[in-house]
Amino acid sequence: MKSRVLITLPLPAAVLDTLGEQFDLQVWDEGPMPQAHIERWAETADAILCSLGTSITADLIRSNPQLRTVSSISVGVDHIDMDAATAARLPIGHTPGVLVDSTADLALALMLATMRRVVEADRFIRQGHWSSSWTTDFFLGEDLSRATVGIVGLGPTGLAVVKRVSAFGANVIGWNRTEREIPGVRNVALDDLFAEADIVSLHTAATPETHHLVNAQRLASMKTGAVIINTARGSVIDESALITALSSGKIRAGLDVYEQEPLAEDSPLLAMDNVVLMPHLGSATAKTRQAMLARALENLAAGLEGKSLPWCANPKVYAAS
Ligand code: DGY
Repeated sequence: MKSRVLITLPLPAAVLDTLGEQFDLQVWDEGPMPQAHIERWAETADAILCSLGTSITADLIRSNPQLRTVSSISVGVDHIDMDAATAARLPIGHTPGVLVDSTADLALALMLATMRRVVEADRFIRQGHWSSSWTTDFFLGEDLSRATVGIVGLGPTGLAVVKRVSAFGANVIGWNRTEREIPGVRNVALDDLFAEADIVSLHTAATPETHHLVNAQRLASMKTGAVIINTARGSVIDESALITALSSGKIRAGLDVYEQEPLAEDSPLLAMDNVVLMPHLGSATAKTRQAMLARALENLAAGLEGKSLPWCANPKVYAAS
């Protein structure tokens, strides 16, 4: 009998055809899958293939001991109750390594767009406001080469951003939970990083420790005109404190991730000119998404065959009991 796989998001037809030859598929392709449906469909599944939009709760894990693996098409696993999964010896697959450069590129794009007011200027010209001739003080921005960039989190993506901003000639300061010596990066205390940087770029995972790491006090300590870039996770910033700070016009932001995704239609961020917004596209290049999918499918197959997942987010499940 074929193993049953619950797929909680639309996937390319060719991928579904191949998977369908090996497994019995239940595919949800109507937008965000309601939690009640996930719970009902999980009851008959041997594995779940999902991504960030699917909450794999402790209840769901405990109520479905037949699950052999959950494979997420993402590196982040903050949508999954990892403690419950590990306690239930449920291996969770994820896709590290392959989205570092794409995410770092997007952080750079947001820095440059914010510093040089790219989106604001694009809106200006499309709205028919470009009637003056060239002047010396028209739409002035700042240079990345003259900026001090503060990197919060010196893991693979943080380091890829260090490489990029260093190539632009920026002065780089950094903070990591466990201090790391990185050539060209001056380590500073987290509060000092917020006070000194012209650009703060966030590259930490979403954990209870990093929840609202960017709070009202740290935002208030930022320089006038400073920029905060978030391509990590929305929960790292206290978004209502950020909205207050941005409304004052003192700082600017480039955001790819939010506390609630999709962003609410009435979010005050949507009306602000000093913010560049992206809808969680850090890993959104064709090559990177292919690589993520390939890893997720390898994890899925290994889990269903009872083998160790090649990219397991909770390898403790394999420790001898
Ligand atoms: C991930 O994989 O966790 C990313 O946020 C997706 O872009």
